[in-house]
Amino acid sequence: MADAKPFHWEYNPEPVAREVFRVEGGHALSGVVPISGAKNAALKMLAAATLTGERCRFTNVPEIEDVRVMADTLRDLGVVVDHPEANVYEVASGDVEWLFVPLEAAAKMRASFMLLGPLLTRFGRVIISNPGGDRIGRRPVDLHVEAMRALGASIDYRNGYYFATAPGRLRGGEIRFPFVSVMGTENAMLAATLAEGHTTIRPAAQEPEIDDLITFLQEMGAEVERTYPDTIEIEGRKRLRGAEHRVIPDRIEAGTFIIAGAVTGGRLTLQGASCDHLASFIETMDRVGVGVSCGSDAIEVDGSALLEGGYRAIDVETAPYPGLPTDLQPPTAVLLTQATGTSHVHEAIFEDRLEWLAEVRRMGARIDMADAHHATIEGPAQLIGAEVEIGDLRAGASLILAALAAQGTTVIHGAHHVHRGYENIERKFLDIGASLARSAEGTDVTPT
Ligand code: EPZ
Repeated sequence: MADAKPFHWEYNPEPVAREVFRVEGGHALSGVVPISGAKNAALKMLAAATLTGERCRFTNVPEIEDVRVMADTLRDLGVVVDHPEANVYEVASGDVEWLFVPLEAAAKMRASFMLLGPLLTRFGRVIISNPGGDRIGRRPVDLHVEAMRALGASIDYRNGYYFATAPGRLRGGEIRFPFVSVMGTENAMLAATLAEGHTTIRPAAQEPEIDDLITFLQEMGAEVERTYPDTIEIEGRKRLRGAEHRVIPDRIEAGTFIIAGAVTGGRLTLQGASCDHLASFIETMDRVGVGVSCGSDAIEVDGSALLEGGYRAIDVETAPYPGLPTDLQPPTAVLLTQATGTSHVHEAIFEDRLEWLAEVRRMGARIDMADAHHATIEGPAQLIGAEVEIGDLRAGASLILAALAAQGTTVIHGAHHVHRGYENIERKFLDIGASLARSAEGTDVTPT
C-alpha cells in the first residue's frame, strides 16, 4: 500500500560532515588493540533504561555515533542522560514528557525502534517513526509490531508512524516469530517485563548481546530467563528498579581486528576481547589458516600464514547466532580475496549486504556476484589502492581492511559511516602501525 506523506513531509536530513580516509597499504600491523563495549548491547540497554524511573548506570559503553544518537533521542523525550566520563552513561527516565520518536531519530538509526517496547509497556502509548538504518536491505519491522499486538497493544500505521496504545497494562502472551529476529526478540522482551502475566518468546534470537540485556534486566528486578536456547520466558512485574551494568566486549569489532591482523600478515593482541562469543568466526579463521588463540581477557592473532601464501579458500554462509555473524561477512570476504582458490560467500540474512563488494573489485579483487545473496571470490588477488565509497558501517570497516592489504594509496569516501559503530577506529589503527589519515570532505545530506 502506498504510504501517505509523513507528518514530517518538510523533513530535510541534517547535513552530515563527510569524511575521507587515505590509507597507505602494505604494512604488517602489530601491537595491542583495546576492544570497546558492544554497540548492539549498549544501544538496547539505553532503551531499556526507560523501563524505570530510577537511575541506571552503564560502563564500557562505546563512544560511537549511534550511542550519541540514542542519547539525544532519549533527551528529546525528556529523559535525563548524563555522560559523566568517557564510556560511562547514566539514564534517569522519571519524567518522560514526550512519547514521540520522530523521523529525525529514526532516519539516523534503526535501533531507535527499540524504544517501542519499553515506552509502550511503561506509559501505555507511543508514536514512533518507521526506522531507517543501514543500506543493507529492506529491513521491515513487522515482527516487532506483531509481537506488541500479541501482548494486547493496538497499533495503527499512518503517515510513516506507528501509533501504539495499550489499554491498561500489556498482557503477557505467546510470541511466535516466523523466523529469528534480534531486535524483534529484544523489543518483545522489554515490553513483556512490565506486562501482566507470563510471556514466552519463540524462536528467540540467541545473540550474546541479548543475554547481556537479559542480565541487565535481571539486575533491574525483571523476571526474565532464557529457558531453552531458542526460548525466553518472562513473568511481568509491576515496576523495575535502577541498576548498574558493564557492557560486554564488542565481538564484531574484535572480529574486524582479527581480519586486520590476518590480511596484513601481522600479529595483534586484542585486549578485553573474548573468544566466548566468536566460536563460529574463529572456526572460520581456523579453516582459512589464520592463527587465533584465546586468552582469559585477550585474543592473539597471527597472520604469518599470509606471507607464506598459506590461506585456504573456503565456503561461508551467514546465520543467526551461533552461526557466522552477518556483521562479520564483509571483513571475511576481504580475507578470502587473499586465500588461494575459489571461495563462495552466501549472505543469508540481508538482501543488499554483498553490493559493497563492487568497491573491492575496483581494487583488483576477482569477485563474481551470482545474485544478491551469493558471491564467488578467486584468490589470492593483489589488491591495488583505488578511490572507493563507503555505503554502510560494516562495509566501511571492511574497505579499510582491503586498503590496508592493498599496494599503494586508497582513498575511501564516506568514512564518517564508520564512526557509527567503531570507537576511535583511526587511533586504534594508527597505534598498530597503519598508515591512515582522516580529513573532511564537504558535506552532503545522505542519511547514515
Ligand atoms: C540486528 O539487526 C543488528 N542491529 C544488526 O547489526 C545485525 O546485522 C542483525 O541484528 C543480524 O544479526 C542491532 O542490533 C542494532 P534482525 P536487526 O531483525 O535486529 C528480517 C550492525 O552493523 N526482519 O535479526 O534489525 C530482516 O529484514 C548491524 O551492527 C523482518 O523481516 O536484524 C532480516 O532479513 C546492522 N521483519 C532478518 O529479519 C522484522 O520485523 C533478521 O534481521 C524484523 C526483521
